[in-house]
Amino acid sequence: MTAAAADNPFLPTFGTTPPTLAGRDDVVARFGRAFERGPQHPDYTMLITGVRGSGKTVLLNEAEDAALRLGWRVISMSASVRDLCRLITNAAHRHLREAVDGASPRRISSVKVLGVGVGFEPSEQTDTARSDIDLRSVLTSLAERLACDSTGLLLTVDELHAVSLPEATELAVTIQHVTRRELLPVAFIGAALPEIDETLLADRGMTFFQRCARARLEALGHDDTADAIRLPIREAHGHIDDEALEHLVSASGGHPFTIQLLGYHSWEMAEPAARINATHATAGTIEADHAVLEQIVKPIWSGLSSMDRTFLWAMSLDEADSEMSRIAERIERSPNFAQTYRRRLIDAGAIESAGRGRVRFTYRQMGPWLRSQQ
Ligand SMILES: Nc1ncnc2c1ncn2[C@@H]1O[C@H](COP(=O)(O)OP(=O)(O)OP(=O)(O)O)[C@@H](O)[C@H]1O
Ligand SMILES: [Mg+2]
Repeated sequence: MTAAAADNPFLPTFGTTPPTLAGRDDVVARFGRAFERGPQHPDYTMLITGVRGSGKTVLLNEAEDAALRLGWRVISMSASVRDLCRLITNAAHRHLREAVDGASPRRISSVKVLGVGVGFEPSEQTDTARSDIDLRSVLTSLAERLACDSTGLLLTVDELHAVSLPEATELAVTIQHVTRRELLPVAFIGAALPEIDETLLADRGMTFFQRCARARLEALGHDDTADAIRLPIREAHGHIDDEALEHLVSASGGHPFTIQLLGYHSWEMAEPAARINATHATAGTIEADHAVLEQIVKPIWSGLSSMDRTFLWAMSLDEADSEMSRIAERIERSPNFAQTYRRRLIDAGAIESAGRGRVRFTYRQMGPWLRSQQ
C-alpha cells in the first residue's frame, strides 16, 4: 500500500525557500568556500543578479543560514527600506553589544520573516539610533571583535537596484575599507535585478560594486527543472507521469517561480489522489499562466516607458521569436535605436535573446496578453 499523499509541497511565494533548491549548487558552493577562506577570497563580496522570481532572495537566505551554521553573525537588509545605512549601523551596534555580552549569534533583519528573521522592534531602533555612531566605525569595531573570536559577519542587501546613490556610496566606501583594505571578516552579498548594470553599476563612482564577484542566475536547465518538480512530489508521496512532467518542464521555461506555480496548481488539480497526469498538468498550466501574468508580467509592464511598450507591441505581432530588423521597421527607427531598447528590455526582464538578431518574450504569457489587448 502506498502512503497517503501529504499537503501540496510547492511554495509559489516570493522569498520562500523551495522544497527542492534545484540547479544552484555552484553558487551555494562559491559563498560557502569564501566564508571558509576569508576576506581575500574573490567571492567574499558578491553580487547576485537575475530576473524577478529567479531565486535571488532564496539564495541570500541560504547564504545567511550557511553563515549562521558557522557561528557567524548576520545582518539581512533590503535596500528598499529608508535609511539603509542607519539600519545597518544600528544592527551592527546591537551585534557588537551582544558579542561583548557573549550572547549567541543570530540574524538581525530589516524584513520581518516569520520564524527566521528578527525584525526591529521600535525600541531597538531608538535605543541604538545615536548620531555619534557611524557605519564604518561600528562595523570596524564589530569585525575586529569577531576576528578575535575567529568568526565573522555576513551582510546581505536584497533589492540592491533600489538603493539611493548616497546610501550606495556610503555602503561601498565602508565595505571597501573594512573588508578589502583592513581584511576584516565582513562578507557581503547583494542581490539585484539585471537592470543594475545600466543604473548603479554604470556610475563611475561605484567601483566597489563593479568589482564584486558576480553570480548571474539564469533559467534552470531541463534536468534541474525536472528535479525541482519531481522530487517534491515524490517526497510528499504523490506521483507525476512522464508526459505531465515534460509538459510542466517545457511550460516553465526553467523559471523558478513559474516552476513553483506549475507544481502547485497541477497538484491542486490532482487532489485528493496526488497522481498528476497530462490533464492535470494542462489545467494547472492555465492557472499558473494567469498567476504569472498578474504577479510578474503586469508589474514589469507598468514599469516600462512608452517607447519600451511600443517595442513590445511590435514584437507581439509575431507568434514566435521576433527579428530585430523587423522590429526596427515596425517602430520606424534605426537598427541602433532598436538595439538600445533591446538592451533596456532585457535588463527589465521583459525579453531575452533568441539567437543571432532575434528576441523573444522572457515570459511566453506576455505575447498572447498583448494581442488580447489590441
Ligand atoms: N533553485 C530553485 N528551484 C526551485 N524553486 C526555486 C528556486 N529558486 C527559487 N525558487 C522559488 O522561486 C520563487 C521565487 O524565488 P525568490 O523570491 O528568491 O526570487 P527573486 O529572484 O528574489 O524574485 P524578486 O526579484 O521578485 O524578488 C519562490 O517561490 C522560490 O521558492
Ligand atoms: Mg527577491
